[in-house]
Amino acid sequence: MLLSHNFKRASRKALYLAKSSNISIQRQVANPAVFSNVSNYAVTRTQETFPTTIYSSLSVRNISMLNNTLKTELDPTNRNFSALSADMEQILRAEFESVDVNKDGKIDAQELKQLLRKHKHIFRESEILEIAELFYVGNSGKAVPIDRLLEAIDATLNNDEKKKNSLGVGTCAAEYYYDLNHHQWKEDELNSITQTHIQPKTLSDKIAYNAVKAVRFGFDTATGWNGEITTSKVLQRVIFLETIAAVPGMTASIVRHFKSLRRMERDGGLINMFLEEATNERMHLLTFVTMRDPSLAFRASVIGAQFGFGTGFLFAYLISPKFCHRFVGYIEEEAVSTYTKIIQAIEDAPEGSDLAQWRTEKAPKIGISYWHLGENGTVLDLMKAVRADEAEHRDVNHEVCEMKEGDVNPRYDPSIRIDSALNKYVRDMMTRAPKENSMA
Ligand SMILES: [Fe+2]
Ligand SMILES: [Fe+2]
Repeated sequence: MLLSHNFKRASRKALYLAKSSNISIQRQVANPAVFSNVSNYAVTRTQETFPTTIYSSLSVRNISMLNNTLKTELDPTNRNFSALSADMEQILRAEFESVDVNKDGKIDAQELKQLLRKHKHIFRESEILEIAELFYVGNSGKAVPIDRLLEAIDATLNNDEKKKNSLGVGTCAAEYYYDLNHHQWKEDELNSITQTHIQPKTLSDKIAYNAVKAVRFGFDTATGWNGEITTSKVLQRVIFLETIAAVPGMTASIVRHFKSLRRMERDGGLINMFLEEATNERMHLLTFVTMRDPSLAFRASVIGAQFGFGTGFLFAYLISPKFCHRFVGYIEEEAVSTYTKIIQAIEDAPEGSDLAQWRTEKAPKIGISYWHLGENGTVLDLMKAVRADEAEHRDVNHEVCEMKEGDVNPRYDPSIRIDSALNKYVRDMMTRAPKENSMA
């Protein structure tokens, strides 16, 4: 096996040299035993690299493996890459081979994990575990030949709709898999959140948008939000709003869960996403409530609001899920605006004020744990993480409005997740310094 592996490496090196030296591929039989399945193509220099004495020591299996490798690499009609350069192909092959522990020329889920761990600056550990799981499930536990993986990577660089999911992974993982830890934001993600708005188009969109605007105006006026911002006002507002914000996700999950049971059909990865959204909103609440103990009157108003909003949202969701997701999308646009205002106020607060203290005050322990804010994570860091969460809720709820019956949620679609991970991986390899790659 080791001998075979060494030969495969040597053959690739020889071919690479041949290709980079512009040595023409000739119709020539170098060794019938080895090249019989290679459409009689051979490269002159491979004869120098593989003396006859060494060929004769190869087992039938070795020869077969070498044939398969050479078949792809020698016959130009088999090299179907349009975006991957020959150089990059070699670099990627070398890295794949370095993680191909059982040396079978294929990458399995465990080996993929090792591959992605070499790129920890772009993949979080939780992402690596998720991608490896989706890879395993999507390929029904089978390992993927390195050549196919290279083709899939090439396809992700092409932006060609027809070549999407070129590994042909299945989507069943969307029904049960979800990553509870994906709210561990990176610095650049936290700082790149912008306030976006989806223009309402249909009558239903306009009703949803105006309902949100009306509720916001009433709530802002009643709580005096438009005046000076204080820590007390912030906590009162966010605690109340988060008790409401965790309702839609759970309602959507319950309704969709029962629908899936009734119809005996897949859901397409939305139940888990909305369960996760509900948990995320509940974590906002549980974190903020450690910073302020709400009064009895406040708690009573939360119970009333939950009954009113919860009942209304449930019936609205049974009638029109699309209207409800658009409505939540607009609520979340407002949430991003609110947290942006809070972050701005903390950053601009004069030294010595209560708000300024949040620049250095440690975040509650539950928040440090959930968002992985680090030992010295501050309340300001916490607010930035919560804003990133709200931006994600905004985007997913608007996106869901565009889904059709039977679609798989694009955020939970294993084929999209794997394609995007492969694309991220290869782009990282392409931007690395050549020196670093040569050492990889
Ligand atoms: Fe929230
Ligand atoms: Fe939210």
